[in-house]
Amino acid sequence: MERIYLTTPLYYVNAEPHLGSAYTMIITDTLARYYRAQGVETFYLTGTDEHGDKVFEVSAGAGIPPKEFTDRISAAFRDVWDKCGITYDHFIRTTDVYHVRYVQELLTKVYDAGDIYFDRYSGLYCFGCERFYTEKELVGGKCPDHLTEPKLIEEDNYFFRMSKYQDRLLRHLEEHPDFIRPEGFRNEVVAMLREPIGDLCISRPKSRLTWGIEIPFDQRYVTYVWFDALINYVSALKYKGEAAFEKFWPEAQHFIGKDILKPHGVFWPTMLMAVGLPLYKHLNVHGFWTVEGQKMSKSLGNVISPLVMKEKIGMDAFRYFVLRESVFGQDADFREESLTARYNADLANNLGNLVSRVLAMQGKYFAGVVQPLGKAWTKEDLELMERFRKAEEELKRHMAQLHFHRALEAIWGAIDHTNRYIVHTSPFTVIRYPEEKARVGNILHHLLESLRALARLLSPFLPETTGQLRDLLNLSESTAEPDAAWGGCFAEGHTVKPPKVLFPRIETEARK
Ligand code: MSP
Repeated sequence: MERIYLTTPLYYVNAEPHLGSAYTMIITDTLARYYRAQGVETFYLTGTDEHGDKVFEVSAGAGIPPKEFTDRISAAFRDVWDKCGITYDHFIRTTDVYHVRYVQELLTKVYDAGDIYFDRYSGLYCFGCERFYTEKELVGGKCPDHLTEPKLIEEDNYFFRMSKYQDRLLRHLEEHPDFIRPEGFRNEVVAMLREPIGDLCISRPKSRLTWGIEIPFDQRYVTYVWFDALINYVSALKYKGEAAFEKFWPEAQHFIGKDILKPHGVFWPTMLMAVGLPLYKHLNVHGFWTVEGQKMSKSLGNVISPLVMKEKIGMDAFRYFVLRESVFGQDADFREESLTARYNADLANNLGNLVSRVLAMQGKYFAGVVQPLGKAWTKEDLELMERFRKAEEELKRHMAQLHFHRALEAIWGAIDHTNRYIVHTSPFTVIRYPEEKARVGNILHHLLESLRALARLLSPFLPETTGQLRDLLNLSESTAEPDAAWGGCFAEGHTVKPPKVLFPRIETEARK
């Protein structure tokens, strides 16, 4: 793979960043860091979705004009992601002028091609979802997401001939089984496409909604949120220039939560077909997070904020937890108890203690100076090196499959192996025999190589910690690169620093 284009959904500005949006950001940021480190040219996009009824209502409620309101909240979103260390390459707002122009350009194109028509429509509209529902989609007459009864609305509107592209999309899904991942979501979209999908109402009269992109061929209307927002994935690249578009669009991978599967799995590809653009490469769909078994909600007061988590346990630990605790594509539950347990076991004990022990011994026995690696390697030394090579291979495989929990498991397998290596080789005992001092130097050299490998393997997941680890090892970012072979990186006289506690233990009630 030479290039990758990663996108997150554009977040509505009527809520604050929370565990759900932070999860998508953490996944995509991890992937972006992972691929960049592999030398893959990466473009990573996020942003805010700012038009529509909901935003308009909230801004009106706050007594602020919508643009001023969205300026404020969009900046706040950006600030949160920046504080969380998310390394997006571009932040798009659907109110950005280039985006508005591009949406209008595409609307005109589709209209001129005859794929947009005007018609009277009456349908059941959910204001929460900002979309019409069919009777069949409702559960007990209510919107399944908002549990409210949709309103019957009758009005003249513009429609996109989505149905025209239904068969072509179904064929595409059959020919590209991993177009939508994981498979369960692909099957859901296939099932949608086996039923008539109808056409998509893509306008709202200004009499009802003014906060949107004006339809260029009829100023009485604005365009529907999805026909606006989805186009960001292309407009952002176009803004960067035609070359960026040519380069990255064929490598597009969208990341979304399962509630917005239909717009991304059905509306978006048919829109791309209508404007004559190639389809994205993958749609990657994740599940929903609950908190202590309950849906997150303001009224329950259980909304997990990424900045509060950062403050409480550190961003790296939060990243580790959400990636290790969930299986991509499945729902997951956030529990304080599991968070503490994982933090103490995996981060404070297995990883943190390993780093402390190795650096402490290096300091105590050799004043921090790395000893030259002798030629005679024991079976254990070779096995240790081999274990890291295996972890690297496993990591590659799991990352390609979006199995983040398995990728971390593979790395922790190597960490456990390293801890066992210390027990087996027992440098703290061998050091008692002066004639064995060179052997202790060798053992520690292998251990430092393990730490160097960890600094590299873990860097997409724990960027702050691995930065600290590299600093403790006195290594620059480039010396932690994979091509520097095992045993070939610490030059004669290289000194490492004294240990530092990377993850202070969280004292639980039971231990106090
Ligand atoms: N604005 C649209 C997306 C437009 S994309 C062109 C939107 N915004 S949203 O702010 O409501 O949701 C953004 C993302 O957050 C969605 O992917 C949604 O699935 C995700 N999540 C919201 N709550 C979530 C959880 N509790 N758990 C996991 N993800 C969740 O939809």
